[in-house]
Formats: sequence, C-alpha cells, structure tokens
Amino acid sequence: MTAPVVTIDGPSGAGKGTVSRLLAHRSGWHLLDSGALYRLVAHAGTLAGLAPDDVAGHARLAAQMTVVFAADPQGLEERILLDGREVSAALRSEGAGAGASRVAGWPAVRAALLDRQRGFAQPPGLVADGRDMGTVVFPHAPLKIFLTASPVERARRRYNQLKEKDSGVSLAALSLEIAERDRRDSTRSVAPLVPAADAIVLDSTAMSAAEVADEIFAHGRGRALWP
Ligand code: C5P
Repeated sequence: MTAPVVTIDGPSGAGKGTVSRLLAHRSGWHLLDSGALYRLVAHAGTLAGLAPDDVAGHARLAAQMTVVFAADPQGLEERILLDGREVSAALRSEGAGAGASRVAGWPAVRAALLDRQRGFAQPPGLVADGRDMGTVVFPHAPLKIFLTASPVERARRRYNQLKEKDSGVSLAALSLEIAERDRRDSTRSVAPLVPAADAIVLDSTAMSAAEVADEIFAHGRGRALWP
C-alpha cells in the first residue's frame, strides 16, 4: 500500500458519503466513492445498449471506462465524467443505485474494478467509502469504520438528499427500495456488506455528520494517522 487508508463501509443512507467528504476535506486526503464506480458501470452499460444481464459486457466496460472525479473548490460535491461526459445527475437516482447493486453482485465486475480502486491510495492518504473497502479492497487499512443508522433514519436521509433533485420521489417507495438493495448487498456471495473483523462500528442514528467525522478523526489521531 502506498498511502494510509481509512475505510468507511456501511449500508445506504448511513451517511458514509457526507462523512467521507468531510474527512477527506479536513485532512487533505484523497477520496474514493466506490459506489459511484458501480453506478458508472451500470450506467455505461445502459448507454452502450447492453442487456441488463450481460456480465462479460459490463465487466469489459468496468475495465475500459474512463472516469474523472472532479472535486469542486469546497470539496463538498464532485462532478463525475464518464468517457468525457458529465453524468453526475444521472448517477444520483435510486434507479442508478439499484443498477449498481445488480452489477455489483458479479465477481467479474468487482475484479475489473479492484486495481482501479487501489490506485486511489496515494499520498498523503485516502478515505475510501463503500461496502467492502475494509474487507476486500483495503484489508490492511489502519482504520476501518462500519457506519450504520436505523432503517427509518437511513430512508429519511436518502429521501432528503433525493427530493432536492427529484420532486417525484416518495419516502415509502424509497424505504422499500433501500431495504431491497441492502438485502441484496448483504446476502450476495461475493464481497457481501459485513463489517470487517477489525472495524469500529458506529451508529449514526442520533448523530450529525460533523459529529461522526469528529469521532472518526479522534480514532485516526489515536492511531497517529493525523496530527
Ligand atoms: O454507495 P452507493 O449507494 O453509491 O452504492 C451503490 C451500490 O453499489 C450499492 O448498493 C452496492 O450494491 C454497490 N457497491 C458495492 N461495493 C462498494 C460500493 C458500492 O457493491 N464498495
């Protein structure tokens, strides 16, 4: 490993994205939004006209697609370019999340994304957000966090995120979709969503993102990752 990595894994809506961005911004470290890579593979497949169950076709796209994460100056929201085209808005929907969860169950796609993900571990360090960051992609990371929140709170957070961009979204439908995605992510045979044996489990139900980031920062300081 070329740089220290802090892994933030957990189910959808636990606050991983916001917390990871806060940590990366505060420490000046790089950020890996691994969920975006799975969303990109599904989206690239749709753009290329692949059948939804074309495993080899999606794995080929996972290996070949050109992806650029362009952070804005505040570091709070990144723009994502797929083969030179901005796709940020298309990747945000719950439909894109469901597509990601479909292709994420295929070992060939996961394997095709492995080196790309590890390549983000560059000095001074990396905050890696996902489902299998601590278990599979960065098993030697010096600090692993598993972030959860109650299902009701997670659905509420995703709803608040999505409704800014999509007025048609409903809390009831979203709760069901998230529950289904979590069930699929947790029960798949390859890289299922489980805490690493050496992960610190944090329940963020009653905490703000800033409070969670502070707590993770304190753990990192305790391990001499940050001054
Ligand atoms: O985090 P996000 O909601 O963007 O992830 C979308 C989907 O991508 C997840 O539901 C999961 O199926 C998949 N994923 C994964 N492994 C990761 C990150 C995301 O399987 N490290």
